[in-house]
Amino acid sequence: MSLKSPVSWPYPAVIAHRGGGTIAPENTLAGLRCGYDHGFIMSEFDVKLSKDNVLIVLHDDTVDRTSDGSGAAADMTFNALSRLDMGGWHSSWYAGEPLPAFSQFARFILENNLLCNIEIKPCPGREEETGTAVAHAVLQLWSHGGVLPLVSSFSRQSLAAFGQHAGFAPKALLADTLPEDFENLLTSLECTAINLNQKNLDQQTIERVHAAGYKVCAYTVNDYRRARQLLGWGCDAIFTDELVRIPADIGAY
Ligand code: G3P
Ligand code: MG
Repeated sequence: MSLKSPVSWPYPAVIAHRGGGTIAPENTLAGLRCGYDHGFIMSEFDVKLSKDNVLIVLHDDTVDRTSDGSGAAADMTFNALSRLDMGGWHSSWYAGEPLPAFSQFARFILENNLLCNIEIKPCPGREEETGTAVAHAVLQLWSHGGVLPLVSSFSRQSLAAFGQHAGFAPKALLADTLPEDFENLLTSLECTAINLNQKNLDQQTIERVHAAGYKVCAYTVNDYRRARQLLGWGCDAIFTDELVRIPADIGAY
């Protein structure tokens, strides 16, 4: 049996992906509210640093795909980023939706007793400092209570830096497929879980991770029958963009 982080697992089985899935523009407060409104008490979202070291919620390295602007987020100040329209690309209903700071997401989550998965998605070359910044922010923002966020990353450097400063928070390593040496990796990073691409997940893999003493989550599950299959195999949580077709209280078969 591997050495595990001695934290509990208070998270639900279905998690809204990128705030509110595809129902609203990804990684916006509007999306987060939409997720909650559809019964999702937990959302995943992506966090990185602006040029002037503000933690922001944004998936890509650039703002090109999800805003009316262009350029690398790492080269833009928060002031410049917050003037972008992050909603018009999705639909006219969300035109003018601003790019949120992580602290704004945290405020909404804490005020409404919600849960979250912070994915540390560092701009290239900023892996360690982003992990450290997220740790300090979580320490400060969750200091008065609230269920601790699950903190995940594809970047082992970011996860290690986060753990150095906020070792009490549950962590998950993100990976496309289960690494052969996953037990060593999860032990050294003090992770509670591994979050894997659902395309590469089968019952045997789930059982292997469980036998080693870890939780396993699947991203991104947008097919109803696949969602039920994974949960039926004992997958601990799935991330979904489809908040209507895959309801938060979906059962397993
Ligand atoms: O954290 C799960 C999932 O969000 C990872 O992939 O690219 O959607 O951030 P991505
Ligand atoms: Mg993500």
